[in-house]
Amino acid sequence: MELINLRSDTQTLPTEEMLEAIRHAALGDDTYDEDPTVQEFEARAADVLGKEAALLVLSGHMGNLTALMTHARPGDEVLLDPESHIFYYEVGSLASVAGLMPKPVPSHHGMIEPTDLREAIRKRNLHYPVPRLLCLENTHNRSGGRAVSLELHRELCGIAREHGLAIHLDGARVFNAAIRHGVSAADYAAEVDSVMFCLSKGLSCPLGSVLAGSKDFIAEADMRRKRLGGGMRQAGIIAACGLVALEKMIDRQADDHDNARTLAKALNEIPGLSVDLSSVETNMVYVDHSASGVSTDEVLARLRKAGVLASARPPRHFRFVTHRHIDAAIVEEALSRVRKAMES
Ligand SMILES: Cc1ncc(COP(=O)(O)O)c(C=O)c1O
Repeated sequence: MELINLRSDTQTLPTEEMLEAIRHAALGDDTYDEDPTVQEFEARAADVLGKEAALLVLSGHMGNLTALMTHARPGDEVLLDPESHIFYYEVGSLASVAGLMPKPVPSHHGMIEPTDLREAIRKRNLHYPVPRLLCLENTHNRSGGRAVSLELHRELCGIAREHGLAIHLDGARVFNAAIRHGVSAADYAAEVDSVMFCLSKGLSCPLGSVLAGSKDFIAEADMRRKRLGGGMRQAGIIAACGLVALEKMIDRQADDHDNARTLAKALNEIPGLSVDLSSVETNMVYVDHSASGVSTDEVLARLRKAGVLASARPPRHFRFVTHRHIDAAIVEEALSRVRKAMES
């Protein structure tokens, strides 16, 4: 029995077209600015986001960290949601590598209240760290892939600007947010100084992310990337996949959203499981299994035995994420396996 892998959109494999593109990519040493495929890709990525320049980085983590270190200096304050990926995960690199002071601004289901942001920005004072940067995340992973509207995004960015803060968007899945709200990723990017998006999630590339911003910002960021060990040689093999992704993989993610919705509705009918349908806005489904009376680890073990992989969100939830390898027929098969697993 082949496993149905719903753990994450990071589990996607490159398409045949991407593998062909790698084979035929023109390559050079990117540290000498001599990889034509990287150059073509970075120009195209900047264009898609409406920014002046872009930089290929190895991961979302590296893109965010490079941005943080370009915007701020050790000891500066960065305002961000404690449920954001940058704060919650990434092995504390915000503090240990960038040396920044986090100022938590809690969100409600991924949405920061404008009044909370206003309150969190302190007036300059000899005793306080210098507030330098606001980090936003869209879609918001730990709230179940919720997508912040362009209206709220604009309002938050407006407040940050009033107070002289720079703004970075962790847009690992910014195209999912744009699809959800019927706008473009460039609409979100227009409001911020820098934006990071991932190639290696719903866009199906084997690795890579992009950091975009002004020409000056990206020139600085290039140096920070190098400092983090992110200078690359024949990186055109990554960029070649990225070019295919930008052309073919963005719009198809609407199917992932439809499949997540179908999955969520049917999971809600399975005894022991429930899904807050209002939380299912993009490609993630957080499933509350607490009524089943078994632990998250036990539920995951039963699902695996039935042939379905999920991610743990203990103590009450597990997570399913739809992606390119999950079509409507696989959703049906997954549901029948989940039903069996929960009956056992
Ligand atoms: C919102 C968000 N930001 C950043 C990252 C980090 O991306 P990477 O795993 O490529 O470092 C992730 C990964 O899941 C994410 O979900």
